[in-house]
Formats: sequence, C-alpha cells, structure tokens
Amino acid sequence: MIDLRDLLEHRLGVMLLTERAIERTLAKLRRDASDEGLANAFERHLDETRAHVANVEDALRRLGRMTPVRLADPAVMRFRLEHASFADAAEAASFAGAAGHQETNAYEGLIALAEGVGAREVLGLMAQNLAYERAILEQVNLIVRRLAAQRGAEDLELALQDGLRRSEPQRSPQAQGQGAAR
Ligand SMILES: [Fe+2]
Repeated sequence: MIDLRDLLEHRLGVMLLTERAIERTLAKLRRDASDEGLANAFERHLDETRAHVANVEDALRRLGRMTPVRLADPAVMRFRLEHASFADAAEAASFAGAAGHQETNAYEGLIALAEGVGAREVLGLMAQNLAYERAILEQVNLIVRRLAAQRGAEDLELALQDGLRRSEPQRSPQAQGQGAAR
C-alpha cells in the first residue's frame, strides 16, 4: 500500500519540476509575445511562478525532504513542446490557459491530499499558489477570448474577401444571363 505522505511528497516534487518548466517557458513566451496585454500577463505570471517555485520548495522542506523526481507533469511538458510552433499570440495565450488549468487542478489535488494526511504545515503555501493560479487563469482566459475574437474577425474578413473573389466567376454567368435577357 502506498504511504500517502510519500505520495504527497512525490506530487510536490512533480509540481516543483512543473513550475520550473513553466518558469522557463514563460520567459520565452514573454520575449516572443507580440501582444502587449499578453506580454504583461506573461511577465506577471513569470514573477509569480518564481514565488510558486519557492513555496513548493518550502513545502518539501517542511515535510522533511526534497523528493528526487525526474518527470514534470506530462501535460505541461507537452505545452512546452507545442510552444515552439505557436503561430501567434492567440495560440500562445490559449496554451498558457491550458497550462493554468493544469496547475489549478494540481494544487487542488495537493491541498486535498495534504488535508487528508494532516500535513497542515504545507496547506497555507499550497492555498497561496492555488489562489494565484485561479486569478491569473481568469486574466489569461480574458486575453484568450479577446485574441481569439480578434483573430476570428480577421479570419472572417479574409474569408469574406476570398469568398467574394471566388464568387465572381459564379456570379458572372448569372450576370451574363441577366445581361442576355435584357
Ligand atoms: Fe504556477
């Protein structure tokens, strides 16, 4: 049977690598962000992520050891890999949102487990991280909506122009027909 305190330490170790991976990715995203609102959100998230790393390290210390974990959360690692192929700010923001959901879920799980095993010494730190993750997620989701709508409007405009161009030959026989009828 798994010792649930060991499991808590293991998950905290995974969270630590995940936060560090996010820290590296955010630094790149901030550098590449073409949208100012998004760049600011990444900047803020980067600062906060450094605080999250410190909180998780502190939590591990309070539990008595730094668990050697080699794998960060797979979903977040996927996020890092996909970052290389982001075409624009809307894509970068949506992936940041996805990572934020992942982190929020992870902290909720950590808090439940810590409560369950009576690890009160880490609850405050985890609650701090969770509260921040929720706040930044809300902010990122707003940016995702704005950028996606903006891109949607641009796509629609392009599609309309394209549609108009394509409909030219289709309209012309009609126009010719009308012309012939006159
Ligand atoms: Fe975080």
